[in-house]
Amino acid sequence: MRKQIAAANWKMNLTFQQGEKLLDDILEANITLASHQYAIFAVPYPHLLMTRSEVDNARNYHVAAQNCYDKKSGAFTGEVSAEMIHSIGVPYCVIGHSERREYFNETNSQLSEKLNLCLENFICPIFCCGEPLSVREAGTQNEFVATQLKESLFHLSPEKIKEIVIAYEPIWAIGTGKTATTEQAQEIHAYLRYVLADQYGADIANQISILYGGSVKANNAKELFSSPDVDGGLVGGASLVASDFIEIIKALK
Ligand code: PGA
Repeated sequence: MRKQIAAANWKMNLTFQQGEKLLDDILEANITLASHQYAIFAVPYPHLLMTRSEVDNARNYHVAAQNCYDKKSGAFTGEVSAEMIHSIGVPYCVIGHSERREYFNETNSQLSEKLNLCLENFICPIFCCGEPLSVREAGTQNEFVATQLKESLFHLSPEKIKEIVIAYEPIWAIGTGKTATTEQAQEIHAYLRYVLADQYGADIANQISILYGGSVKANNAKELFSSPDVDGGLVGGASLVASDFIEIIKALK
């Protein structure tokens, strides 16, 4: 079975102490993950090492960075490189979240550079895509997300593309309480897999986990994750409440 992943995206929330307490509360629930199930915590940079040591002894629990810069190193004050993230043993990094695209003007081509740097540094990128409301209303979401994939991912070799995780996050569903219906999520996830299959073949496309993000909650996770092409979720708001995220981890196939 493909990797099924519950990924928490804390965004710019929680002090170090609050983050530590949240992780303690979640880990105390002692949820045993099957070999294909993963719980990943994408936390702010100052929390990475603490999170890594919190999850170190829990099987299939991992830590992720929320971003990295698109250059190797140098005079870029305030930025953090993929190599630095790797050097503290962090195995995942979120790339191209819609908030980065919107507020920091990250483009598809810049994101392709970030992906390259992550892969060169043995970091698994969680690549985000998804359309704004205007595109959904115009009914052109398939073309929109296909372009995001083509421009950021399709330079990768078949061996490399297999190493990434994709998160489909419709922007109109992020932080709004509006969730895509299970049918809408399944439909576009299947389409993304079709686009991947068209480029890399069905065998490879079937190995790539595609997470859904956008108002995933304790009470809708099970239904969303039950769709055949939805391999878990990238969760913002509900990942900040231990009892909610515990339920979301338990909802994994
Ligand atoms: P949300 O955020 O769950 O609060 O909608 C999801 C995300 O932005 O990754």
